[in-house]
Amino acid sequence: MPEGIEKYVRKELLTFGAYSSPKASDKQAEQAGIPLKKIIKIDQNENLFGPSPRVNRILAKNNSFNIYPDAEQTAFRKQLSEYTGVGPECIVGASGSNQLLDLITRLFVGEGDRVVNCVPTFDIYRFSTQVCGGKLVEIQRDENFAIDVKAMRRAVDKKTKLIFLANPNAPTGNLTPRKDLIEVLEIGIPTCIDEAYYEFSGVTVVPLMKRYPNLMVVRTFSKWAGLAGLRVGYGLFPPAVADLLHRIKIPYNINVAALTAVQESMLDLDYLMNRVKVIVAERDKLYAGLKKMPWLTPYPSKANFILCKLLKGNAAELQDKLQEKGILVRYFAKPRLENCIRLSIGKPEHTDIVLQTLREIGSSW
Ligand SMILES: Cc1ncc(COP(=O)(O)O)c(C=O)c1O
Repeated sequence: MPEGIEKYVRKELLTFGAYSSPKASDKQAEQAGIPLKKIIKIDQNENLFGPSPRVNRILAKNNSFNIYPDAEQTAFRKQLSEYTGVGPECIVGASGSNQLLDLITRLFVGEGDRVVNCVPTFDIYRFSTQVCGGKLVEIQRDENFAIDVKAMRRAVDKKTKLIFLANPNAPTGNLTPRKDLIEVLEIGIPTCIDEAYYEFSGVTVVPLMKRYPNLMVVRTFSKWAGLAGLRVGYGLFPPAVADLLHRIKIPYNINVAALTAVQESMLDLDYLMNRVKVIVAERDKLYAGLKKMPWLTPYPSKANFILCKLLKGNAAELQDKLQEKGILVRYFAKPRLENCIRLSIGKPEHTDIVLQTLREIGSSW
């Protein structure tokens, strides 16, 4: 029995499993004895090209950090309406798409409600469901990480309030075929399609929003636009749901710097999308290089990362060996992923170093 103030805490949260983030890169650099500048950070699917140079220029000149941002996100929603083709009344912004995923869960899921989740997948869906007191219904993906629509349909009951689906999926990188997505939407339960990697895949379900009022789409500026550190994402919803989300969200949830950065990024789309093209080309180069290594099996990816299965050796140990050489990658101590590492796509020079280092490790592995 907890003592003191903890005894007032919601019991189910006393043993809550936190979302596990990698250790900060400066700590990992220190541990490896390598200067931070030399570290190749490919563990969190960030954009190593950074944001549009317009973002850095405008933020350096900004003198309104003492003023709250527009609570209604008017300019933000207008720009995103032009970008997505969806009306501003359907758009909600948040401090990272994580915050929006959490907000969606809070809107639909209460104590004892059920959420369908296709695992392995992005862990925030589990995290938010459990924080809200919901029950996670886990449907296993197959050996190629494809979803099992029939099992999803069977899993749905009166208490099911929400389905989460990342497309492309993370950390596996695969897309769900359109016909399967339509079958999922036909189930009729509110369905959140997480398109965090949309700009890399070029595939979206947004046009289906007209036909499916249960469809919600979530995206982020963290990956393609290089704004992970400023925390900004958005979602597209039926107008009534967007209105409810605006009502339950914390006011001013996107800060002035992030709003300004989005505004400038949207004015520099050609530059940013050219960077995306380079990253996609590097993804294909990395995939081809990994495929040549007999001890690794990379999974095809439509995102800015590649999941890679080890055919021999231990993935946690490989992560450590790479860290010693200044390359930070992601290892998930989770079912179905224990023998995998995930590599984000960096700049062209990073691809070469990563492949060379893996070849060296592989020769003595
Ligand atoms: C599938 C997926 N959704 C959402 C996010 C979170 O993005 P944000 O930085 O916008 O919170 C990530 C981040 O890795 C992700 O992989």
